[in-house]
Amino acid sequence: MRQTGDAWRPSPNSHTIKIALHYPDLALLFLTRRKSYEEVVATMVQRDLASLRRRAASLEEGSDSFLRLTTERKQQTIRRIIPGRRRDSSLVFNEFYGMLYAATRALRPRRVVETGVYMGASSAAILQALEDNGAGRLHSIDLPTSQHRYFLQEGKSIQIGLPSPSLSVGFAVAHRLRRRWDLHLGNSLDVLPDLLQELGPISMFIHDSLHTYEHMTAEFTLGYNALEKGGVLIADDIGYNRAWADFCKANHEQGEVLTNGPGFMGCLVKSH
Ligand SMILES: C[S@@+](CC[C@H](N)C(=O)[O-])C[C@H]1O[C@@H](n2cnc3c(N)ncnc32)[C@H](O)[C@@H]1O
Repeated sequence: MRQTGDAWRPSPNSHTIKIALHYPDLALLFLTRRKSYEEVVATMVQRDLASLRRRAASLEEGSDSFLRLTTERKQQTIRRIIPGRRRDSSLVFNEFYGMLYAATRALRPRRVVETGVYMGASSAAILQALEDNGAGRLHSIDLPTSQHRYFLQEGKSIQIGLPSPSLSVGFAVAHRLRRRWDLHLGNSLDVLPDLLQELGPISMFIHDSLHTYEHMTAEFTLGYNALEKGGVLIADDIGYNRAWADFCKANHEQGEVLTNGPGFMGCLVKSH
């Protein structure tokens, strides 16, 4: 059994109880301390990945066309391949992960940069797609765990990053997927300039870190400028503010807006 995160246990609430009922085998292993929290989440991600790959196998023929589909057809395709048919039948992989897997398979990118790792579910979806492509490398950026925190705002508890410093960033990424992965710890706006300069043109940039207007706009600008023509920019949680709409307009790009559960995600193919 791994040592990191072993001691940490989530508090029982409606979400953890739902997970326990959904995965009774994992709940039992966790409650009897035969699996740590990290191992339980990593297993859930593995199961969702296996299901996603099975469902996406039908896309294999001509899968490069995914990025050329209309927004509505993209959305239908994503819904078809993600593990959860009902909203609560997959507790990890939502539409965002379906989008990441399908877009990475379609584009066959050489260099991908992602901001916001958290437990590593999005990194795992991208890395699995790179593995299935047989090529490519992912550079992911997140804050060091010491900077992940809770704070109260207007009486509401807000969590940024992992719920405990004993958990490690990206712990849910299986070891078999890590050979194509470089994890960089730091503020994305500090890390990105040097990293992008070192990498040269990239094929895909994914934003899922801090969703403020200023931070999103700064990351979109850095990522978009580093993209080769035909490269793809994807962003989660674009419904928080107008950063996506304003950025697409300012850069004369047809940015798409897709639904991700109750929220929205954006996708654009760099046209010039
Ligand atoms: C929404 S979570 C990422 C979820 C992940 N992409 C997934 O889908 O599995 C956001 C993450 O962004 C990180 N983050 C917040 N501000 C950041 C910053 N300025 N630079 C880098 N990472 C940041 C947080 O620590 C947190 O882990």
